[in-house]
Amino acid sequence: MDKGSYNLGDACHKSSPSIIHVVKTKALVLLTALGLVAFYFAPFRLLNPHPPPSTQLDHLSSHCAHIPPISPSEFVDRQTSLAQTLRSLNASAYVAEPGASAQFYGNISDSRWHLSERPLLLIITPNHDTSTGHVQSKVTILTPKFESTRAKLLNIPSASGVDFVEWAEEADPYTIAVSSVLDSLTEGGAIFVDGSVRNFIAEGLRTAAPHFSVKPAPVEVRRLRERKSPSELEILKCANEVTLLAIRATREQMYIGMRESEGRTMIRGALAKAGLEDLDSIVLFGENAALPHGSGTDRVLGESDLILIDCGGSLHGYHSDVTRTFALRSSFIPSAHLSLWKLVQDAQTSAHVTATSGTLTRTVDEVAREVILAQGYGQYFTHRLGHGIGLEGHESPYLRGGSDDIIQTGHTFSNEPGIYIEGKVGIRLEDCFYISEESGNAVYLTEGVGGPSRSPWFP
Ligand SMILES: *[C@@H]1O[C@H](CO)[C@@H](O)[C@H](O)[C@H]1NC(C)=O
Ligand SMILES: *[C@@H]1O[C@H](CO)[C@@H](O)[C@H](O)[C@H]1NC(C)=O
Repeated sequence: MDKGSYNLGDACHKSSPSIIHVVKTKALVLLTALGLVAFYFAPFRLLNPHPPPSTQLDHLSSHCAHIPPISPSEFVDRQTSLAQTLRSLNASAYVAEPGASAQFYGNISDSRWHLSERPLLLIITPNHDTSTGHVQSKVTILTPKFESTRAKLLNIPSASGVDFVEWAEEADPYTIAVSSVLDSLTEGGAIFVDGSVRNFIAEGLRTAAPHFSVKPAPVEVRRLRERKSPSELEILKCANEVTLLAIRATREQMYIGMRESEGRTMIRGALAKAGLEDLDSIVLFGENAALPHGSGTDRVLGESDLILIDCGGSLHGYHSDVTRTFALRSSFIPSAHLSLWKLVQDAQTSAHVTATSGTLTRTVDEVAREVILAQGYGQYFTHRLGHGIGLEGHESPYLRGGSDDIIQTGHTFSNEPGIYIEGKVGIRLEDCFYISEESGNAVYLTEGVGGPSRSPWFP
C-alpha cells in the first residue's frame, strides 16, 4: 500500500540510484517527450489531415503554360469580319472605348488604358475596294494630343497600319473623330457604338455628326465577339480547368475548424499559382452560402457544413468562373442537404443537355428551374441560370427568363443553378460550357479535368 509513490519519492533521496531507478526515470522522460510530441501534433493532424506542402500546388503553374495568347493575324481577321459586317449593314463606322470590345478588335483593355474624361477611341471603318470587291478594315485611334506617344505604345495589330488622330485640349474630340473618318461615312449610314461606350461619348458623336445615326451596335456585330473562335476556346478551357484544379487543391488543404477568410486566402493563393489574373473568389461555409454573393467572414467551419467556393480569374484576358459546393472527407453532412445538392446537380444536368445550337436562351433557364420547382424549392432558386463569358466575366448573351437570344455555335455560358435557404443552407454548382461547332451540343469547358462535380466528395 505504501510502495508506489512513496518508494519512488524515497528513491529520489538516495545518493546512488539503483539500475531500476535509472530505467524508470529514462522511461518517464521518454514517455513525457512522446506525450508532448503527440499533444503538439494531435490536434493539427485531427483537424488538418492533409497539411499543405507547397508542392501540392505545383501542377497548377504548368497547366496552361502551353496556351498561346491571341495571334496578330486573328486580330486582323476580327477587324476584317467587323468591316464586312458594317458594310453589309450599310454602316459607316464602329466606335469602342478601351474595354472588352476594344481588347477584342484592337488589343486595348481598360487595364492598359484607363478610362478618363478625355476620350481615347478605337474607330474601325470598312474600306471597299471597288476593283476587287473586297472589304478591308481601317483602324483609327483618336487620342488626346498630349497622350499620343503613350497611345502609340499600345500594341494594336493591324494589316495596314493604325491611323493616330490627335485632339488638342481646346478642340472638340468628336468633331475631329467624325472628320477623320469622313471618307468612309456614307451619308445617312449609321455609326455603331459599342455597348460599353459611355453616354457622354455617344452624345458627343451625335452632336458632331448630325447627318448620321449614332446607335448601339446591333446583334450582328455583338455576335462577332460572343461566338468564340477555336483559339479563344482553348484559352477559356484551360482557364476554367485550372480554376477547378485550384478548388480541388484548396479542398485538400481545408480542415474542420478553419475560417472562411483563411479559405479565401488559400483559393487566391492557388489561383495565383495557376497564373491567373483579375482574381475573383467567394468562400462561404454552411448557412452563409445562402447569400449567393456573400463576402466571407471569420465563421469557423463545422463538421456538418457544406463549403461553397465560387472563383475565377483570367488567362490572356479570358475569364474563368467555377463554383463548387462540397464536403471534406471528415464532414458529416445532414442528409436533407445532400438531397438538395443532388437536386442542384440534376438541374445543372438538365440545362446542359437542353442547351443546343438553335435553342432560346430562356428555355435553358426554364428547364433548370423546373427541376428545382418540381421538388418544391422553386422559390429558393433566386437568380438567372447563367451568363456569357469571355473577355468579360459576365457578358451577353444570358441564360435567363425573358431573353429571346438564340444559342449559336461558339457561344459560351455559365450553367449555375442554386438553392439558397437563408439561415440554413446554400448550394450552387457552376461550370461553363461552349456550343460545339461540330455537334451543336454543349460541352463543358472543364471537360478536360473531369467536368462537373460528381458528388459533394468529388468536386
Ligand atoms: C497585345 O498587347 C500586349 C500588351 O502590350 C502584348 O504583350 C501583346 O503582344 C499584344 N498582342 C498582339 C497580338 O499584338
Ligand atoms: C444597304 O443599302 C443598299 C443600297 O442602298 C440596300 O439595297 C440594302 O437594303 C441596305 N441594307 C441594309 C441592311 O440596310
